[in-house]
Amino acid sequence: MTSEHLGDVIAASTVLISAGSGGVGKTTTAAAIALAGARSGRRVVVVTIDPARRLADALGLGPGGLTDEPQLIDGPWPGELWAAMLDTQATFDALVTRHATPEQADRILANGFYRNMVSSLSGTQEYMATEKLHQLHGDPRFDLVVVDTPPTRNALDVIEAPHTLSRFLDHRLYRMLVTPSRRMGRAVGVATAAFVRTVSKVAGGAVVDDAIEFFRAFEGLEDGFRQRAVEVAALFREETTAFVLVTSPRRDTLEEAAWFAAQLRQRDMVVRGLVVNRVQPRPIDGPADRFRTMSAQHRGTDLAFLCDTLVEQCVAADHERSQLDATVAEVAAVSVTLVPILGTDVHDIGGLEQIARHLVGRA
Ligand SMILES: Nc1ncnc2c1ncn2[C@@H]1O[C@H](COP(=O)(O)OP(=O)(O)OP(=O)(O)O)[C@@H](O)[C@H]1O
Ligand SMILES: [Mg+2]
Repeated sequence: MTSEHLGDVIAASTVLISAGSGGVGKTTTAAAIALAGARSGRRVVVVTIDPARRLADALGLGPGGLTDEPQLIDGPWPGELWAAMLDTQATFDALVTRHATPEQADRILANGFYRNMVSSLSGTQEYMATEKLHQLHGDPRFDLVVVDTPPTRNALDVIEAPHTLSRFLDHRLYRMLVTPSRRMGRAVGVATAAFVRTVSKVAGGAVVDDAIEFFRAFEGLEDGFRQRAVEVAALFREETTAFVLVTSPRRDTLEEAAWFAAQLRQRDMVVRGLVVNRVQPRPIDGPADRFRTMSAQHRGTDLAFLCDTLVEQCVAADHERSQLDATVAEVAAVSVTLVPILGTDVHDIGGLEQIARHLVGRA
């Protein structure tokens, strides 16, 4: 396909985000891109999200090593390869500890509403992925941050996370709960009291007390959260930030990739890479006709059987490829890379190297 090389996209980026539908190979692609970066001499950190157990082990994130702190992986590459696993709770706790006073941090971390919110509020994982990105992007140990994205139904959730947070912080209700008496008049205080009474009936008084206590303890921290959200939103649009969309050759995931690409474009973000993962490999280059002829000449023999198999694989691969082309054109990515389906799952550095070889052609 006539497109730029993904290796050049990786070389030109300081942030790379692997996004796409569930199960298409986002985590695998993110890890393989990170490996390719380390092979080209860069100091790379990859933030994975729920990697398969054996891949986590291979990245030094297995039991015992399970951590959201980047771990250095030894290997024969000139650069550095670091891997971390997104742990929403640990990232949120670390943020609170870093930005709050010790007394304020203790109050927040011990708060029941806070613990419950971090583990169950939808969107927290997506938001924390962006906080982690912000943190690692500013870390002088790394010159490329590769971010995996959660298996959300809507790939936009990560992109929208900073705005969602800002909207939440600006929400009238939030403001009422945080500052019921200090900045607002009596009328609002009465409205808040009525609201709290209603919620108490539904959720239980203790929950509401915890929530109010949390919002009060949180006071003063919002500005930092809002500021970082603004910075991440800007980082998404930087020249050196690359969105790499991962898809399978299946029609539904292709359509989702095309939709997502259009959404990114609307937001002035560029799709720098499209990775079509798990394509059927074509066993030979060029036309399969001579194997058809050979099969006819040796009818009934093992050779004919082999020729027929080869022809079938070529036909299937060509069919898949012709179906791909329209959507690939629609995505209009700067680089387009096809990665074949491997014989086994990708669960070790060797498997990642194979994928990396297909991604950049020279891992
Ligand atoms: N090219 C490939 N050939 C063979 N197996 C692959 C290939 N790419 C990915 N896999 C395997 O497919 C499975 C899913 O891949 P992966 O976990 O990277 O997907 P994902 O998009 O991150 O999924 P989720 O949306 O659940 O996070 C893994 O077991 C992985 O090893
Ligand atoms: Mg994944």
